[in-house]
Amino acid sequence: MPPARWPTREEAARARWFSPIRIGRTLTAAERTWVPAMVPWRATADGFVTPEVLEWYARFAEGQPGILVVEATGIRDIASGPLLRIGDDRFIPGLRALADTVRERSGGRTRLFIQILDFVAVRRRPEPRRFFGRYLDITDSLRGQIALWRDDPRWREAEEDEVRDYLLAADRVTLETVLTDRELEALDYGYRERVWDMHLPHIRELPRVLPSLFAEAARRAREAGFDGVELHYAHAYTMASFLSRLNTRSDGYGGPRESRVRLPLEVLAAVRARVGDDYVVGIRYLGDEVIAGGSDLDDAMWFGVRFAEAGADYLSVSKGGRFEDARQPKVGEAVYPYTGTSGYECMPTVLSDARGPFGRNVPLAAAIRRAIREAGCSTPVVTSGGITTFDQAEQILERGDADCVAAARQTLADPDWFRKIRLGYGREVRRCEFTNYCEGLDQRHKQVTCKLWDRQFDPADPAVMLASDGKRRLSAPPWSPPADTPAG
Ligand SMILES: Cc1cc2nc3c(=O)[nH]c(=O)nc-3n(C[C@H](O)[C@H](O)[C@H](O)COP(=O)(O)O)c2cc1C
Ligand code: SF4
Repeated sequence: MPPARWPTREEAARARWFSPIRIGRTLTAAERTWVPAMVPWRATADGFVTPEVLEWYARFAEGQPGILVVEATGIRDIASGPLLRIGDDRFIPGLRALADTVRERSGGRTRLFIQILDFVAVRRRPEPRRFFGRYLDITDSLRGQIALWRDDPRWREAEEDEVRDYLLAADRVTLETVLTDRELEALDYGYRERVWDMHLPHIRELPRVLPSLFAEAARRAREAGFDGVELHYAHAYTMASFLSRLNTRSDGYGGPRESRVRLPLEVLAAVRARVGDDYVVGIRYLGDEVIAGGSDLDDAMWFGVRFAEAGADYLSVSKGGRFEDARQPKVGEAVYPYTGTSGYECMPTVLSDARGPFGRNVPLAAAIRRAIREAGCSTPVVTSGGITTFDQAEQILERGDADCVAAARQTLADPDWFRKIRLGYGREVRRCEFTNYCEGLDQRHKQVTCKLWDRQFDPADPAVMLASDGKRRLSAPPWSPPADTPAG
């Protein structure tokens, strides 16, 4: 863990991190402290805000960060488990309650954005019996492969049930020989769509439907009282996949980077047209995909300039978090994009290489910011990843590597940490241990909590809400500054 030196209240008052910043045409954040999106799995099964969602954001608001970004929220009106949704006007009242709660609990100090996302289908890894018995399409091409492998042309005419039974009993070498790579992947990892699956009509039409889906979601965010929207172009989801070098779409939305950035720019333009010039529209995207054949920093610098020139109000740079290198899930579970090397780079832990996990992604934001400035744009750039001390953040800003410094897990461990530092109580910060207990819960879609919250846990205390499994405390223990602390 990097040693922490905490500033006095006077030093904090002079610090860059606690200085205001203009974002977009009309918004000013009181400070450059930032909480990036974190999904806590607390919405209802049909995507509505719950009291637990309100409490989660209220707790972050009490720490009074400059910017708080609400978790990835689905733009479509489709079943997506306990993930927040913004795909219909019926979600607006709950989201409005969320915006009001943050305003009230931060004393009006925190600006609130909401991250909006689209994703394509990812299914759980199937039982082989179900996969061969039901899911797998028995095609003529598959029959042909079996005929070749068995050197027996009768397989070309085989009944479907006979093929299914054969495959269920087949050894691994046979399966690897007769199944396509995608069929084998569906068996081993679960069926997963790509945005370049042009044989699927709903994938083909993504460029036609996404601009208005994003624009309508952004309009609802504005109506609900959010200060801005963040377009989720990062990690494993639809828009990041359009930007990926792996995107081979042949309809002018894949291949060279000018084509890969086309839909992300069309979405940005549609959102801007719907919400107006005076509303914050930011983008979170990847400084590097960290997968074989994926987009790298060179692409990200180029995309950053395009986004800035097209009027994005800020760029929040993340890294990795892709499906391509994810670990094989257990049967019945879905592949999780934060388990491979790219996942490690997204949420680095203390089990690291010589470089260590702290501030590991800053060079990406710095290079993107430089490229944007050289192109004449002043768009703020946000960095995140292993930020855990005041000095780290201050040095990043001093060097001009970013304009805002975000902390996800450190803020989860101690939602009050920004306020503690600002008021001169940095020594009371509960420091994140970066071992990803929280991320393990996220992986299983369980209510996200921090292992450190339970230290002062008294199960008999009626003020303590418990997670649904009854084992853990649902929110961070409270903190208030000592009574003689001057207001601020
Ligand atoms: C529980 C959890 C949920 C997350 N959910 C999101 C999300 O919804 N959208 C997103 O862009 N990043 C998400 N992230 C990634 C964080 O925003 C951040 O980029 C990452 O944790 C690295 O920053 P840190 O080292 O400060 O934690 C999540 C991280 C955690 C730990
Ligand atoms: S669970 Fe661990 S990694 Fe997550 S916020 Fe808490 S201390 Fe940090």
